Amino acid sequence: MEKYLINPNQKISKINKDIYGHFSEHLGRCIYEGLFVGKDSPIPNVNGMRCDVVNALKEMGIPVLRWPGGCFADEYHWKDGIGPLENRKKMINTHWGGVVEDNSFGTHEYFELCSQLGCDVYINGNVGSGSVREMSEWVEYMTFDGLSPMSEERKKNGREEPWTVQYFGIGNENWGCGGNMRPEYYAYEFNRYNTFVRDYNGKKHIYRIACGPNAEDYDWTDRFMKTAKRHMNGLSLHYYTVPHGWGGRGKATEFDEAMYYTTVMAAYKIDEIVKKHIEIMNRYDPDKKVDLIVDEWGTWFDVEDGTNPGFLYQQNTMRDAMVAGLTLNIFNKHSDRIKMANIAQLVNVLQAVILTDGEDMLLTPTYHVFKMYKEHQNNTLLGSYMTSDEIESDGLKMPKLIESASMDENGVIISTVVNVSLDEEKEIKCQVADSEVKSVKAEIITGKMDAHNTFENKEAVKTAEFTDFSKTADGFTAKVPPCSVVKFVITK
Ligand code: AHR
Repeated sequence: MEKYLINPNQKISKINKDIYGHFSEHLGRCIYEGLFVGKDSPIPNVNGMRCDVVNALKEMGIPVLRWPGGCFADEYHWKDGIGPLENRKKMINTHWGGVVEDNSFGTHEYFELCSQLGCDVYINGNVGSGSVREMSEWVEYMTFDGLSPMSEERKKNGREEPWTVQYFGIGNENWGCGGNMRPEYYAYEFNRYNTFVRDYNGKKHIYRIACGPNAEDYDWTDRFMKTAKRHMNGLSLHYYTVPHGWGGRGKATEFDEAMYYTTVMAAYKIDEIVKKHIEIMNRYDPDKKVDLIVDEWGTWFDVEDGTNPGFLYQQNTMRDAMVAGLTLNIFNKHSDRIKMANIAQLVNVLQAVILTDGEDMLLTPTYHVFKMYKEHQNNTLLGSYMTSDEIESDGLKMPKLIESASMDENGVIISTVVNVSLDEEKEIKCQVADSEVKSVKAEIITGKMDAHNTFENKEAVKTAEFTDFSKTADGFTAKVPPCSVVKFVITK
């Protein structure tokens, strides 16, 4: 029996809702088809946004949405995506499949989508192929409410009031697709561009995010932080779970047990990576003013057979649910420093929460994990500890059980527990310190490691009530099945 201790007296940090954020790029069928079908589509829509997808995302709880990229951000010219549709320029999406981008989804459409979703805005600007003026004018266009060329242009295009921009990214992956820059060079560029991202009219400060490292590139964090100092509010980290690297990542639905363990181990590695980047950041920012923003994360497998390799369309199994569950638990535990994270990507791309096929739509196992975890949003992270034996694979080790616990303002505790073992049911004894527990309710997602939903069987993997536990005076005992994510709701 493993021991699980939750301490409601140890209130660690607020779990910012945006840790449960998402990412949508002009890539494959994410924006076009997945989210936006245009007003004239036979697919039910409101102002061009798919009703089925918007409703499902609202139910899941989507707090913030990053757009327009990704690599696309550094070749996006926002002025091509405003004004009458017939006048919008068409361009080649060179990064993603070489398809024509007709710019029918632009700034106004993005704000319409966020307003329908009721989520915050995270816009990524263009440093790689843009200009300071272009970025500055975009911010003016979106947020200035006085008299200016850009605000007049916005009004001419049908939007009188300025919008609120919560987050603004100054470039994306500028060490690679965003311009192949060295950290020092990007740091100077960051400071220059950032100067002209204005907070207009005493409006809420726009939170600025600098391009940070890829995965274990600690050198980037070190050299960038040293040069740029502390002018950004957040530093972004990208980390994809790519088992056996780009050459050997394999298919999303066909894999053996060894590959399953390699995948969850690779996902678990983010804990160490986050810690090491934070250590470096602390050297240059001892007051911890700069947050860590993991604005791209998730699994990256081979594309599905017969699909455009540039569209990054992959299926999603229980293995993805395990990656989502353990990663979100890790992010919760780092919520003193991680203020936002954005899984890649929202619909039809990489570790998507929704897949679409024409007018059809399905919810992936990853969707269900996000929905189960949504009560963590804005809760207070509690001190918690779980004993667990370890899994060993490829010379790496990780615990079989990964958990996190948080509390809402009424004292209700949410605990999410992931059992990554494929063959071992784990018995746990949970004790909530100094508490008398009145009731416990639980929900589970479980299945074979490769179980997934298809358009023929959309409910092969779904959540269910979990009953294999007994309440005790100060907690509960439970048998957590192999390959499962379980949520406990504990009322004191
Ligand atoms: O999410 C797909 C791509 O991965 C993004 O465009 C880029 O930022 C990253 O390399």
